[in-house]
Amino acid sequence: MAIPTSRTNEKGKITIDESKCNGCGLCVEVCKDFNFQIRNKKVTLSDNPLFGCLACGHCMAICPTEAIAISGRELSPDDLFALEPIERRSSYGQMLNLLESRRSIREFSDKAIERDILDKIIQAAQSAPMGIPPSDVHLLVLDSQVKVRKFAEDFCTYLNTIKWFFSEWFLTIMRPFWGKTNDKLFRQFIKPLAQEYTENMKAGIDLVTYDAPLALYFYGSPYTDPADPLIAATYAMIAGESLGLGTCMIGGIHPFIQNGKKAKRFREMQGIRFKSREGLFVVFGFPKVHYSKGIRRTFAAIDFS
Ligand SMILES: Cc1cc2nc3c(=O)[nH]c(=O)nc-3n(C[C@H](O)[C@H](O)[C@H](O)COP(=O)(O)O)c2cc1C
Repeated sequence: MAIPTSRTNEKGKITIDESKCNGCGLCVEVCKDFNFQIRNKKVTLSDNPLFGCLACGHCMAICPTEAIAISGRELSPDDLFALEPIERRSSYGQMLNLLESRRSIREFSDKAIERDILDKIIQAAQSAPMGIPPSDVHLLVLDSQVKVRKFAEDFCTYLNTIKWFFSEWFLTIMRPFWGKTNDKLFRQFIKPLAQEYTENMKAGIDLVTYDAPLALYFYGSPYTDPADPLIAATYAMIAGESLGLGTCMIGGIHPFIQNGKKAKRFREMQGIRFKSREGLFVVFGFPKVHYSKGIRRTFAAIDFS
C-alpha cells in the first residue's frame, strides 16, 4: 500500500548495496516508515514497513557510505546535493531581521521581475516541508504585470456573475447552516470585500493583486494536505523578501473560486488544475515604499499546558 498523491500511487523503490553498508543504523533511526533493520551488522529491509517507502529520501541523505538508493515517487539519487556547512547557514539574527523587516507591500513599481529571480523564489518554495512526499503543491505563475492584471480583471468579471452569493436572501437562508460566525464574516467582510474589488476594478483600480508584476498561486489537489500550499507560499514570500522584493499574501481570491460550476469554469480558463481545500496567492514586486520602522506583532494566545 502506498500513500496516493496526484503525482504518484507507487511506493518508493529501496536499493541497498550491502557491500557499502557500515552498519551504523542511521537509516533505521530516521525512517519513520520502519523500512530498515540491522542484521549481522548490515542494513536489510524490515518485514513491517508502515505504508511502504514514501520516498522522503532521508535514509539516502543520511547514509554516510551511499549504501542506500531510493527511486520512484518522483525521487532518484540524482536529487541529493551537498549542503553548506552549518556556519554558512543563516543565523537566527539574520533570519529575524529579514522576518521582522517584512511588511505587506501593495505599492509596486512597474519594473518587471526577471526570470532568474522567479526561479530562485520557486527553488526556495520547493524546499518547503510537505505532508506526504512528493509535494502535491501546484503552482500557477502569472509572470508579468499584464498577466496579473488580466487575471484580476477576469476574477472581478467572475465575481459579478456570482453576486447572488452575497445577496440578502442567500445569506438569510444560509445562516442556520453555516452559523452565526460565518454569517458575521460574510456580512462584515466577504460581501463588502467582493464589492470593493469589483467596484474599484470598474474604475480601473486593481485592489485584488495591486498591479503587481508577479503573482504566484499555490494550491493543492484533492490528495494534498491543506497546509502544504500555505507553507510553500510562506517560503516563497520569505525568499522574495531576501531578494529585495516587496510581497503580499492575497487570501481574497482562493475561497471565491472553489465551489460551483462557474468557479470550475473560471479555474479551467485560468489553467488551475484542481479545486483545493486551501490555497494562497502571493504577489511580488519592487516596492515603491520603504519602511524604516517595524511593527511588533503578537499572537492571540500563547498557552503553556
Ligand atoms: C493568509 C493571508 C491572507 C491575506 N490576504 C490579503 C489580501 O487578500 N489582500 C491584502 O491586501 N492583504 C492580505 N494579507 C496581508 C495582511 O493584510 C497583512 O499581513 C496584515 O495586515 C499585517 O500586515 P503585515 O503583513 O505588514 O505585517 C493577507 C495575509 C495573510 C497571512
